[in-house]
Amino acid sequence: MSAPLTARTIHRGRLVDVLDDPAVAGPGALRCEPDGALVVAEGVILARGPWPAIAAMHAEGASVIDHGAALIAPGFVDAHVHFPQVDVIASHGKGLMDWLETYTFPAEAAFADPAHAAAMAAIFLDELLRNGATTALVFASVHAAATDALFAAAHARALRLIAGKVMLDRHAPAALCDDAETSHRESAALITRWHGRGRLGYAVTPRFAHTSSPAQLRAAGALLRDHPGVLLQTHLSETMDEIGAVAADYPDACDYLDVYERHGLVGPRSVFAHALHLSAAEWGRLGAAGASVAFCPTSNLFLGSGLFDLAAARRHDVTVALGTDVGAGTSFSMLATMGEAYKVTRLRGGDLSPAQAFYHATLGGARALGLADVIGTLEPGKDADFVVLDTTATPLLARRCGAATDIGDVLFALAVLGDDRAVAQTWVAGALAHAR
Ligand code: GUN
Ligand code: ZN
Repeated sequence: MSAPLTARTIHRGRLVDVLDDPAVAGPGALRCEPDGALVVAEGVILARGPWPAIAAMHAEGASVIDHGAALIAPGFVDAHVHFPQVDVIASHGKGLMDWLETYTFPAEAAFADPAHAAAMAAIFLDELLRNGATTALVFASVHAAATDALFAAAHARALRLIAGKVMLDRHAPAALCDDAETSHRESAALITRWHGRGRLGYAVTPRFAHTSSPAQLRAAGALLRDHPGVLLQTHLSETMDEIGAVAADYPDACDYLDVYERHGLVGPRSVFAHALHLSAAEWGRLGAAGASVAFCPTSNLFLGSGLFDLAAARRHDVTVALGTDVGAGTSFSMLATMGEAYKVTRLRGGDLSPAQAFYHATLGGARALGLADVIGTLEPGKDADFVVLDTTATPLLARRCGAATDIGDVLFALAVLGDDRAVAQTWVAGALAHAR
């Protein structure tokens, strides 16, 4: 007797993904199967291709979900977002430092209450899913229990989340500070509890050089050395005020990046948010180290921090991911973030093609997080994390997409006009996690 076939689901629709960085591989990196199908079994993509061929090979005994003219795309990767800042979004500030002190630090202090953290974890993850983000690199708060609450909620949803307890021991309210030894001990315990459990990963998370003493950055370096699989996330060179403060904090460092380099924090598993005001030397060292940056356009525009230099990142071969950076960022939507990334790049005098923007929101993010073998494209063998995008979500989107000339044009219209309304469904490891 032959073994029973595992339950298979076939998703029929317009498959779209980006197979490589279009800046390197050219526009052919954008792939579209206009009447395509994805075969999913046990949370993984089993096969993909044109609907007629897939139907002939796989339809028998499978359930078929027909998404019609909707796009089926890889789940988005939000490479920089803050769990305790949901309620800080759209708070009127006067630049980074003022915004942190007035709104953000008090909001994060409230996460000392585990019940508040647990309630907010559900809200935060629901927002990610509503916007089609199936993977995120997340700053939790300084509190280990709040970080546990976030991991537990992500685990229950089978979400691929990488997060870390924030380490900060100075230049912040005492209620929000830990110390070098405590942050090391609590981070190590969180790594033991969560890293590699299900689809979860850990990122050592010093907030930024200004709020960490040299002893704490040394502790962060030790955590990375002792736990080779974990990531490092922090902020780098976001505003001129911040750069001045870091120069005063670390007078021996030759520049901002050097502060992190001296503590062993710059390598292929490091993701630096913002990176707006780097020298050519800093860009060169980031590239040589194989480090990645998270481009957070809505945050950079909202705080008036600066315009990301995508051309410099390309020149120095630095992997670029996209981040919402909520709560300084103004939207959880990775579509909206792609649209704002385009505008920022135009303000720099450059161009961001639809394929390029979509790459940074999917495979680029997966590469930054060291997950390109499991997510980021719709390839067989990868996790069945995908979004169903409705090009008729609003009357204007329907009109504009109806007149689109090709798939790049559709993606561009979605980026400029779309938001959570365009995310009809979000599928996580083959299971429906959000339906509009
Ligand atoms: N730099 C240090 N902390 C933060 C934060 O919470 N948000 C942003 N945008 N920048 C930071
Ligand atoms: Zn941030």
